[in-house]
Formats: sequence, C-alpha cells, structure tokens
Amino acid sequence: MNAAQRILELRAELDLHNYRYHVLDEPSIPDAEYDRLFRELKALEAEHPELVTPDSPTQRVGNVALGAFSQVRHEVPMLSLGNAFEEADMHEFDRRVTEGLDLPVGDLFGGGAEVHYSCEPKLDGLAVSLLYQDGQLVRGATRGDGTTGEDISVNVRTIRNIPLKLHGSGWPATLEVRGEVFMSKAGFEKLNATQMEQGAKTFANPRNAAAGSLRQLDSKITASRPLEFCCYGLGQVSENIADTHIGNLEKLKTWGMPISRELKLAKNIGECLDYYHDIGARRNDLPYEIDGVVFKVNSLASQRELGFRAREPRWAIAHKFPAMEEMTELLDVEFQVGRTGAVTPVARLKPVKVAGVTVANATLHNMDEVARLGLMIGDSVIIRRAGDVIPQVMQVVLERRPENARPVHIPESCPVCGSHVERTQLVKRSKGKETVSEGAVYRCVGRLACGAQLKQAIIHFVSRRAMDIEGLGEKSVEQLVDEGLVASPADLYTLKFDDIVDLEGFAKLSTENLLQAIADSKRPSLARFIYALGIPDVGEETAKVLARSLGSLARIMVALPQVLTYLPDVGLEVAFEIHSFFEDAHNRTVIQQLLERGLDLQDQGDVHPEYAASTTLAGMIAKLDISSVGPTGAEKLVSKLDSLDKIIAADGIDLRQALTTKQAEAVREYFKVPENAARAKAVEQQLKDFGMHWACEKKRVEGLPLAGQTWVLTGSLERMSRDIAKDKLEGLGAKVAGSVSAKTYCVVAGPGAGSKLTKANELGLKVLDEDAFIDFLAGHGIHA
Ligand code: IVH
Repeated sequence: MNAAQRILELRAELDLHNYRYHVLDEPSIPDAEYDRLFRELKALEAEHPELVTPDSPTQRVGNVALGAFSQVRHEVPMLSLGNAFEEADMHEFDRRVTEGLDLPVGDLFGGGAEVHYSCEPKLDGLAVSLLYQDGQLVRGATRGDGTTGEDISVNVRTIRNIPLKLHGSGWPATLEVRGEVFMSKAGFEKLNATQMEQGAKTFANPRNAAAGSLRQLDSKITASRPLEFCCYGLGQVSENIADTHIGNLEKLKTWGMPISRELKLAKNIGECLDYYHDIGARRNDLPYEIDGVVFKVNSLASQRELGFRAREPRWAIAHKFPAMEEMTELLDVEFQVGRTGAVTPVARLKPVKVAGVTVANATLHNMDEVARLGLMIGDSVIIRRAGDVIPQVMQVVLERRPENARPVHIPESCPVCGSHVERTQLVKRSKGKETVSEGAVYRCVGRLACGAQLKQAIIHFVSRRAMDIEGLGEKSVEQLVDEGLVASPADLYTLKFDDIVDLEGFAKLSTENLLQAIADSKRPSLARFIYALGIPDVGEETAKVLARSLGSLARIMVALPQVLTYLPDVGLEVAFEIHSFFEDAHNRTVIQQLLERGLDLQDQGDVHPEYAASTTLAGMIAKLDISSVGPTGAEKLVSKLDSLDKIIAADGIDLRQALTTKQAEAVREYFKVPENAARAKAVEQQLKDFGMHWACEKKRVEGLPLAGQTWVLTGSLERMSRDIAKDKLEGLGAKVAGSVSAKTYCVVAGPGAGSKLTKANELGLKVLDEDAFIDFLAGHGIHA
C-alpha cells in the first residue's frame, strides 16, 4: 500500500471513530489506539505535504454537533492542548516557553530563567462552558468543534456542584467559566450496576458515562446521573480578574466555583515533573479518573505574549499518563474451576501492555458477561486495567471481527475432572421466599473429587489466615493432590516424612519443618477453623461471628438457617449456605476425620450472652415472614400470647385481641400448615437447646469492656502481628476499622505510621504506641 492509500484509509477510520466518540458517545477503540492512528496520519502527511487536504482529521480538532440541541457560538474558541508523553517533551515545552518569552534559556548546568507553572490534573470527562451574566448562570454549552457547540443549559443546571448563581460579589458582568464535566469512579460503578440491573446498556468507562449522561435530550436522565464539574479556566470575560491563572481560579472558588483540590504552583519545570510523578503515584487512589496533568504558564501576561499555535495554546501542555485501555485480540476462552466448583470463563489474550503492565489474561466473570459483551474468539477487544483491579474486557470492536470468529461455548464436562457441569440458577432468598434471578452459574459437580476444587480447597485451608500451615505453597499442594497423597484437607494430618521429601523443592530440613508446621496447626481457634473450611460466602468476619456467637463447632454444625439469621450480618442466603455445607455427608466425614486426627479446637465455650439476648420470641415470629406481620405486629402478638405453643394453638378470637383481623387471619393460616408449625417449633427447640430461651429476653447483657469503641491499627507492630492485635481488640468488644475518623476511639500507632497517625493527632484522638497498647491489653488480662 502506498502513502496516499494509507492516508485515505487512516482518514476514513479516524472519521468513523471521531463520529462514534463525539456524536454517539460510543467509541469502539481505546483512545490510545486512536492517538496512534492519528499520529501515523500526521507523520505521513508531514512526509507528503502535497497530500494534505482541508478535510483531513488532522486539520480539524473537535466534533460535529449532534443537531438535536441548538447551537452556540464560542466567542473565545475552546481549544485543545498539545500532549507530552516523555520527560524530554516537557523540557522541550519549557524551552519553547522560555524562548518565547525572551528569557535566558539554561544549559545542562542550569542558569536559565525559571517560569512558574500552574499544575492541575487532566480530568477525563468533557469540556463545558458556563456563561454567567450578572452572576446568574444563563447558558451551558459543549465544546463542539471549538467554535460551535451545543446548548446544554438545561442539563448543566442539573449538576449539583455548578452554582446557578455566583456567591459573593465583584464578579465581572459577563463571565464565562470553562471546565470539565466528569463522573467519579464510584458514581460510574454505581451507575453501571443500576444499568445492569435494569437491563440497560452499561458504559465502558467514566468518560463515556459522563458524555452519555450530559448529552441527554431528557434532562431528567441527566439529573439522575452522578455528574460533577471542575473549573480550569475562563472564556469570555468583561473584566480581568487576577494577574495569574491560579489567582483567577482562587477568585472563582470564592464565588462558589468548584476547582481542583490538586491545583498547585510549580516554580520551574522540575517541580512540574515532581507534580506529575506525585499525582501519577496517587492516580489509583484519586476518586476520579485522570489521563494526565496539565501545566499552564501561570502569569496571564506571559500567556498573552506566547499566544497560540494552530488550535493549541503555546502556554499550556498536557503531560499524559500511560493509557488504561488498550486493544488486543481474544485468542481463546478457557474455563477455570474455583474452590466452590464454579466454572468461570477466562480470556486468553494476545499480550498487550496496559498502563505499563503486560496483560495476557482477563476474567470474564460468567457466561452472562460473555453474552452481554457478545464476545467471540478471534475478536478484537478493549482491555481496561483501572487501578489495581484485575484487567477487564470492556468491549468488542465489532468492526474488526474476523470472518473465522468462533462463538464461546460452556463445556459440558469439567475441564479438570470430567464431571458433569451443571447449570444452577442463582437463587436469591429473602425472608423465606426464594426467587430465581437472571444469572446462571455453571458448577462442576465433582466437588473434592475434582482436582481443581480439591487443590483450591487445600490452598485455602492451609493459608495464613486459615490454618496457617507455613511451607506448603500452591505448587506443593498441586503435587500432593496429583500424586494422590491428599484427597481431603484431613489427609494433610496423615502425611509422612517419605511422602513429602520426594516432592519438588523439598529436602530433609524443609520436610521436617513442614511436618512441624502441620503438627503446630492442630490447635486453631474455632473461628480460624470455620474460615478454613471454605464454606461458600463465609469469609473471616462471618467465621468470627459464628464462632463468637455460637461458641462451639457442634452448635454451628447443627444450627438451622433461621437460627443463624439471628447473627449480625448473616442473611438467609448465607445461612442456607452454612446449613447445607454442614448437612453434606462428605463434609461431615472430613470434619470427623480432622477431629480424629488430632485437631483440637480452641476458644470454644458458651453461646455469647449478647447473641442469646438477641433471640426474642417476637423477633422469631417476625422472621417467619407471615404476610402483613412485621416486627411491630409480632411484638403486639407476643405481648398477649407469650409462648409459641399458645400462638400456634390460638384461635381467631385470641389473635384478634392483639392483631388486626387481617393479621390474625394470616397467623392462623400460617400455622395451619403443619410444616410451618413444625419448623417454628424446631427453631424454638434449637434456641432452647442452645440455652437462649426468650424467658430470659429481658436480661440485660453485661457489655464487653470495649463495646461501642472503634479502634484503628497503623504502622507496623513488632511484638504482635496486626491480625493478632485485631483479634484481641475484637475479643474485648471493639470494632477495628481501617481508617481514622472523628468516630475513632483510639489509634494504635507502630513505627512507620503515616497519614492515619497525622489525622489522629489532628483530630486530637487517643493514640497508643505499641508498648502502651501491650500494657493496656495486659490491664484487661490479655497477654501478647
Ligand atoms: S485547559 C486552552 N485544563 O483536556 C486550554 N483542559 O486536550 C484548554 N481537560 O478540552 C484546556 N482537564 O476537556 C485544561 N485542567 C485542565 C483540564 C483540561 C481536562 C480537557 C479539556 C480539554 C482537553 C484538552
């Protein structure tokens, strides 16, 4: 292909993407790919100036107006910015600025004049102009092609942080403010979740979501979207405000205009680069997405002196960060089997660098996601790696689908063990009702007979927060399973020296160490053990709640789902998972074997008094989900009929003394069904067996010493691990939180404590160092 042909091809492609990006708000390729095509075209045109035509995308920056909104002319054009990708580009920019201002340019040893720059994040949203007349917002407009935009006044008025009227006084009669409309990361996630729930289209990234929300013909939709505005400059003004760019923005802030919290002054280009690195390091933690930082010559007189080149100011530049989205090819879809047997599709990708990290795999979550994306093997796909999150496939580039693209099929049998793969509907239970939701989960029915599930189960069982068996890595677990030495977690406790020493990476000493670690793991706390079992949906917190409330493995194993729902944060769904885990014969056998092989659970005891007190008869009645009988109805019922037997036996007359006719009828109907009465009796019986009958319901619980207090641990602790410190505090009734706020009661700060300690001091909170903390624990009879 010759240059002329390639130029035409590039223009056609760029035009199409321009249209999709600016008019449809549905870009089909990542910005990085667009930039590459654009640069290729620019380079070709530079080599062949005779081929440049006025309709080339390089000759026009901006977009076509959508048409449905009325048009607005920008008195002062809305420009774009030149980009810098490398540090060298930034030094080059600084040199051009310095020269342009007739200031001495330095050499390798410095000596040049230093220009002050303003530094701001480059928000990834869309540029908007707001016109204020006599302090009133009279118009909002998009950038359009820079000269003509669209009137989106109605929509702009729905954005909550845009002042409809300026605060204070002293503003110019005509004041045009410019800035970015964007969506925070959290707002974007929430919006997509709602869209997904409603079966509406989801957005590929916060920028598209912001664009799609702002350019809605129905402003009610805009109003329902979490849009925000951030001001970064001025357009038309009837009067000058300040002498510097930062001065302008700070003045605008006093008039109620939102400006960036990250706005800073750099006294030279070196400080600009520091700013770039600082923001870059915090990029993932910022609540909104940015694609770079913007530097502007701070002095407005200098800005005027420098002026413009084509469509870009000479006094400003965008220093871009690596792109978070890239395009690559979907080579295949493979299926992985997780700990609970869920079979999940995983995308195998042609390796591509996204924001500095090579990505070759991406999770596809489930088959619904594959269907939603309309994914076929061979497709070009957009990969996004936002922050520390695992890479996601965001979109298929349909224009690039090859002819031989193949559909993705779920395998009928497990790729690991060959067992049948079963399609289970996601069942949602709430208040005893079961509803089947849309999504489907595919599960290998092989359970611990499936190598993949067994390996995952054992890896979880031995992990640090579970049984904490050190020296048994994933590779060794795989070998033990593959060699048939371990067929359940209980088999770990029958391993012999000879079984281990031959494994890859093991020698005499490491084998002895591992055997010792296995032996040492035989006295776990009940909570650790429950967590180690890997019950679906039971994480560390739930395991702790189960252990602390019910006090013994025996009780947890027999607990009825309804009884479990008395526990804090345990809903019916989790309760059913727990119950059916312990009902399963195989699981019971494994637990039995573990106990026979010497496992000795610590910290077992009585039912926790607080839990006991939470079980009231009225509470139980309310949980039965008798139609029209909620907590208040249940209270009334119990105030007249104070035992379950009486309630079950009650006739309509008795019941109507406490309830409305409708409620009384519902209670009668409910208990007429023998299974309902039997279930209620079984729950009551179990609560009694656990020693928590409602006869004692009035008894006040002696609170634990730290009940109601929130503690925060920060820095490193040397005499006790953070996990153990957390356990101890929780044992005394405290809540342990991850961040400091005015509600924090006390902060334990070890060496290296940083911002949390600073904040605690600012708030004047109680702070203990490690020694003081250990003394404090000792004061409560707890020793490190
Ligand atoms: S200044 C004449 N400052 O980036 C200078 N732009 O590529 C005009 N943007 O259209 C822009 N954050 O949508 C400026 N702090 C910032 C910005 C910013 C984001 C966007 C804006 C503009 C594009 C320029």
